[in-house]
Amino acid sequence: MFAPNFNKMTMQVFNKNIELREFLTSMKSKNSTVGFVPTMGALHEGHLALMSQSIQENEFTVVSIFVNPTQFNNPEDLAKYPRTLEADIEKMTTLSDKIIVFAPTVEDIYEGKTTAESFDYDGLEHQMEGKFRPGHFDGVGTIVKRLFEIITPTKAYFGEKDFQQLQIVKKLVAKNHIPVEIIGCPIHREPSGLAMSSRNERLSSTERKEAAIIYTILKEVKEKFQTQNTDLVEDWVKNEFKKYPLFELEYFVIADESTLLPITFKEKSKNYRAFIAVFVNNIRLIDTITLN
Ligand code: PAF
Repeated sequence: MFAPNFNKMTMQVFNKNIELREFLTSMKSKNSTVGFVPTMGALHEGHLALMSQSIQENEFTVVSIFVNPTQFNNPEDLAKYPRTLEADIEKMTTLSDKIIVFAPTVEDIYEGKTTAESFDYDGLEHQMEGKFRPGHFDGVGTIVKRLFEIITPTKAYFGEKDFQQLQIVKKLVAKNHIPVEIIGCPIHREPSGLAMSSRNERLSSTERKEAAIIYTILKEVKEKFQTQNTDLVEDWVKNEFKKYPLFELEYFVIADESTLLPITFKEKSKNYRAFIAVFVNNIRLIDTITLN
């Protein structure tokens, strides 16, 4: 059962989509705006920043916490993904008494059929993460579309760390005529420069400290990109990672921000971005930087 009033001590937490829908219908007036922050939990400051922005811009903010099985191509990664619902609720309670939490079960979302729909994102899905994590963006599209159907948000907030995901969600919304505005939000970094990620929790303190090298390299790439040819920059990155035995570079790509296609030659009218994926002791970290 849910209580109709917001209360700092008892945050609204729903496990069933039908109850959340009833609640939102009972709370919303004709012109209410609903902000939505989809997450897989293990919340960090980056997530909290998305929530703060949503709280500022909307009357209601819904945060989903759901480790979506269909977007994991690696069963070990799914099994090891941190699940910290109580601590997450604690963090959100400290942030605001205006957050509505949706923490459904797999059954509630997938109703006995835990499979992903297949999506065509006009090729965005074939680059980078799509190459190395087959089926990942079908899983993301499936859950995001489902959550949009349940919550019918006015605006939805996504971090730019997963820049490819952000572009794919924009494409999903455009192609399916889903009436929601997608807001991309800047990457939050640890003081060392490491992009905040729920996966950082799985790093040892040494690994976490050394992982700062990823952003250091990206910043250097941005400098080099202004004057050097792309092949040289890419070779430099590969060689840099050879100096760090803890890290295994999975990909480094400089791509056009809108098509995500790897750069062939630099054009003044285009915006470029560097994308990187690195393994640290089986933990996969990604990061990105704009180059313009
Ligand atoms: O970015 C994430 O945490 C997930 O991909 C998302 C958008 C919550 C979908 O499961």
